[in-house]
Amino acid sequence: MAAASDADQSIARGAIAYVFYCAECHGANGQANPAKGIPQLAGLRVADLMRQLSALSAKAPDRHAQLLARMDQRDLAGIADYLASLAPPPASAIQREQRGDQKMRAN
Ligand code: HEC
Repeated sequence: MAAASDADQSIARGAIAYVFYCAECHGANGQANPAKGIPQLAGLRVADLMRQLSALSAKAPDRHAQLLARMDQRDLAGIADYLASLAPPPASAIQREQRGDQKMRAN
């Protein structure tokens, strides 16, 4: 089925681009980290991600606008598909991850 394999390719491309451009701040799985002011990206619908990114980029030249300006449009579309494909984690898993992060920073 051509449509499915196009989507898979976009997700695969996006997974790589996400690690390259976004994971440094947003974490490997796009999970929230309130301690660092990081909102959750995993599970975002494509339209919502695009809307939020253009809202962020409309602000004073910030990190997101600079990233988006450098980025191949197919990478951006792939990132959107990749994030939409990630299931939002259960709240208990988010709390575990945050506790782990805080421990690592304390050391
Ligand atoms: C240098 C750190 C950093 C990088 C790199 C980064 N972000 Fe962010 N992002 C943040 C922070 C911090 C916020 C919270 C809002 C703010 O402070 O601008 C945010 C907010 C967002 C939001 C808004 C979510 C919401 O719920 O409002 C989206 C969408 C987003 N980032 C997507 C991305 C994507 C996609 C990439 C990679 C292309 C990326 N970000 C790269 C730090 C980063």
